[in-house]
Amino acid sequence: MHKITRKEQLNPEICLVEFKAPDLAKAAEAGQFVILRIDETGERFPLTLYDWDSEKGTVTVVCQAVGVSTKKLCALEVGDSILDAVGPLGHATETRDIGKVICIGGGVGTAEAYPIARAMKESGNDVTVIIGARTKDLVICEDDIRQFCDDVYITTDDGSYGEKGFVTDVLKRLLEKEEHDLVFAIGPVIMMKAVSDLTRESEVRTLVSLNSIMIDGTGMCGGCRLLFDGKPKFACVDGPEFDAHLVDFADLMKRGDRYKDKETEAASHYEEQCKIGLKKNNK
Ligand SMILES: Cc1cc2nc3c(=O)[nH]c(=O)nc-3n(C[C@H](O)[C@H](O)[C@H](O)COP(=O)(O)OP(=O)(O)OC[C@H]3O[C@@H](n4cnc5c(N)ncnc54)[C@H](O)[C@@H]3O)c2cc1C
Ligand code: FES
Repeated sequence: MHKITRKEQLNPEICLVEFKAPDLAKAAEAGQFVILRIDETGERFPLTLYDWDSEKGTVTVVCQAVGVSTKKLCALEVGDSILDAVGPLGHATETRDIGKVICIGGGVGTAEAYPIARAMKESGNDVTVIIGARTKDLVICEDDIRQFCDDVYITTDDGSYGEKGFVTDVLKRLLEKEEHDLVFAIGPVIMMKAVSDLTRESEVRTLVSLNSIMIDGTGMCGGCRLLFDGKPKFACVDGPEFDAHLVDFADLMKRGDRYKDKETEAASHYEEQCKIGLKKNNK
């Protein structure tokens, strides 16, 4: 059991949760993730490690409530516990001696880009961050990112904050102005694909961190399989980072929608239980 020590609602959809996990906190590195299970009946779902403190023995995740498991996590409060936390999983990001780096976070992907951008900066690289969100209220982690990174660009689809448009508008401008050594993008698959198409043209090395559907996180179940350079790979053990120019994004999008019917059905049962007042006892 992992006791929750801090909880913050970052916006109506996204919450930050810090919980006790001393072994995880000691071993965590940027780019890695944890697989959580909230209770005995819960499914296992992955979240990126946002932050960790080996002295306090805590790790922090940032979670967007999109379906049953993520809603269950966001409904927990300080003092409640998470049943299982397995990790750290996945390869850590290589951050040394890169040079000029652009890190892009779209939506909740901003929280996933944060530890990577921070580690890139700590390793002595020049780091620019581009944050993209649908609207002003959905921009997250801006203050944390500004603490270590001077060049921060924000875009919103509706122009309610920062620049109106997409992260790729800013990226295009930056790439035209100056040479860069690496672009790192995390967010919706469609955004990562758009970034990848743009950087392929300018021949800039590009990494993406893939949020494939995962179950065991050990390379055994096949849930997170993707096509990379025409060959199968597993996001949990071979990734989650991949060279964007070799990822088959069309296949990735198809696989991401595979369980949509089941997810919708589970979400409607969960909402029904919340309405009749079971939420508090049956989180
Ligand atoms: C390595 C990794 C790191 C991740 N890090 C974070 C993170 O830091 N914060 C965060 O909020 N989310 C993160 N995710 C996504 C998160 O795991 C999913 O949102 C979660 O599994 C959805 O579960 P659910 O039961 O709440 O929703 P479900 O009912 O299973 O799904 C609800 C909706 O979310 C979509 N969805 C389901 N699984 C995923 C997925 N893996 N990625 C994207 N969309 C999905 C479905 O298509 C559906 O529309 C990460 C995923 C991976 C693989
Ligand atoms: S999550 Fe099962 S193989 Fe990757």
